Amino acid sequence: RQAIIAIDGPAGAGKSTVARQVANQLGLVYLDTGAMYRAITWLVLKNGIVLDDECAIAEDARCAIAELAHQCKIELTPSPNLQSPVGVWINDTDVTQEIRTIEVTSKVSAIAAQSEVRKALVKQQQSWGKRGGLVAEGRDIGTHVFPDAEVKIFLTASVGERARRRLQDFRKQGQPEVTLEQLEQDIAERDLKDSTRKVSPLKKAADAVEVQTDGLNASEVAAQIVDYYQK
Ligand code: C5P
Repeated sequence: RQAIIAIDGPAGAGKSTVARQVANQLGLVYLDTGAMYRAITWLVLKNGIVLDDECAIAEDARCAIAELAHQCKIELTPSPNLQSPVGVWINDTDVTQEIRTIEVTSKVSAIAAQSEVRKALVKQQQSWGKRGGLVAEGRDIGTHVFPDAEVKIFLTASVGERARRRLQDFRKQGQPEVTLEQLEQDIAERDLKDSTRKVSPLKKAADAVEVQTDGLNASEVAAQIVDYYQK
């Protein structure tokens, strides 16, 4: 089979931008697993399912959220260029923009902690791997989704740097109302939730290479990864 490159790391470390560039340079498919968790979160909110129910607390309960996760159809469509976002569809609704709102962002970690949600999505992610070479990014790619990936990268950056990058993204998307402090808080909260949940928490795989990206731009980081892959 063609190579799988797994890129994990905390929120705002630049995984998406870097992963897309690497995929583009190596002719591999790009898989944004965070977009899948965001799409389910959007669906949960749209269906008016309350998050502070038993399901959210028990993490593994069979519940409305689990049902949605097992029954929904998520599609990711390639974008025409590296600047425009990858299209995200759930049950035939285009949610490309909607999944990036602050509301979805603040709820996604709670949904992603549900073991049934993870089971449903990991299965879909692994089926992408069966079709061919991938650059897959997320939180548990190297540890859980593709433990045999040929290359495993763990991207990090300081919270301040990551919040600044997110602020730029939000401004580009025309959401200028968000502040740096809000983003720092959101990132810190998500990191805590993502790294302390019971099911496949955010963690560097033992055999992953850690890349500290403070002060580096996405192209420099992508070049390092491509280099590493080609060695
Ligand atoms: O990468 P992104 O910020 O879009 O991910 C959104 C959220 O989805 C993360 O904060 C995390 O809670 C969840 N996620 C996950 N496992 C992945 C990818 C994302 O739990 N592989």
